[in-house]
Amino acid sequence: MIYFDNGATTFPKPDIVYDAVMKAMKEYGANPGRSGHKLAIRMGREIYETRELLAKLFNIDNPMNIIFTYNCTESLNLAIKGILSKGDHVITSSMEHNSVLRPLFSLEKEGVELTIVNANPEGKIRVEDIVINIKDNTKLIVITHVSNLTGTIMPIEEIGKIAREKGIYFLVDAAQSAGVYDIDVKRMNIDMLAFPGHKGLLGPQGTGGLYIREGLLLKEIKQGGTGSFSHVLDQPDIFPDRYESGTLNGPGIIGLGAGVKYIFNRGIENIRKHEEELTKHFLEGLSKIDKVKIYGPLNEKEQGAVVSINIGNEDSSDISFILDEKYDIQVRPGLHCAPLAHKTIGTFEQGVVRFSFGPFNTHDELDYALKAIREIAKEV
Ligand code: ALA
Repeated sequence: MIYFDNGATTFPKPDIVYDAVMKAMKEYGANPGRSGHKLAIRMGREIYETRELLAKLFNIDNPMNIIFTYNCTESLNLAIKGILSKGDHVITSSMEHNSVLRPLFSLEKEGVELTIVNANPEGKIRVEDIVINIKDNTKLIVITHVSNLTGTIMPIEEIGKIAREKGIYFLVDAAQSAGVYDIDVKRMNIDMLAFPGHKGLLGPQGTGGLYIREGLLLKEIKQGGTGSFSHVLDQPDIFPDRYESGTLNGPGIIGLGAGVKYIFNRGIENIRKHEEELTKHFLEGLSKIDKVKIYGPLNEKEQGAVVSINIGNEDSSDISFILDEKYDIQVRPGLHCAPLAHKTIGTFEQGVVRFSFGPFNTHDELDYALKAIREIAKEV
């Protein structure tokens, strides 16, 4: 088995992640922040440690400004719906995932104005195109850090600077970048950072988070028990309780903490270097195969470890099926929940075959995949 679908979720995870989840479930699997007994306190403390680790990773001063969610989609929904109201204007790009686009399209029907800035066929957006679309009522700019289709790295630091100068909130979708690329919410002027726990951060599925800058109070999108202010029927204002109603995924969050520890131990720059080398090697190999069309910047310094291709006019799902069945290589075909990004690069009909690499992939695995692609390209 060769797993190249790390853009969907990373697999495998480091052993310390499996061990941490098992330990939490077997040794102290109580409900945090509720009952006040030893096991509940232990669970609460371990969850707080994950908040601290994430705060260190993203240069966040107060770990309590990190909200745990069940995935990046929930984080993006909370950020987008929590900040925008009728009459507000929001700017985004054509490279966004449906977890940004669908909440925005839903709000557009309720009177939020939406501008979608088009990227070029490599998936690159121009900062000037954002600037010229800013209006008096622009309240939010939301941009993905790394495209899940082409891997294109977006100029988030420059956009953050402009957003701060103009007094516009800046939300970054770090679905494909958290755990691999440096993200500093202060230097990059990020007001809200949405991230999954189960991709580059190497935690289990069912984990994610949203950083919300100090002083920014969003509308909550769910209400319920928080273990705090139980005598009051209104949702409390305190962080993170305001946004964390219901029992958290404690074992998952503790596994996520172990994933972040792994990243600190191995070094985020070493992980990135490894993934850049894989991307470079794969792009070079692909460029020598007839009939293969490669999308994106075609440069490992300008893209994450995501390489999307097609072979001739073959359907991307058919190629993916052959890779899985005949070669035991797992990739993701189709539209990747990013329809406008596919329109931008001209693959809305055919889709693409997406290879996405993680910290445990090797050059030998890439060579095997390149051989498989060569053989398929000869046959079709
Ligand atoms: N958003 C994930 C992907 O791109 C699931 O595959």
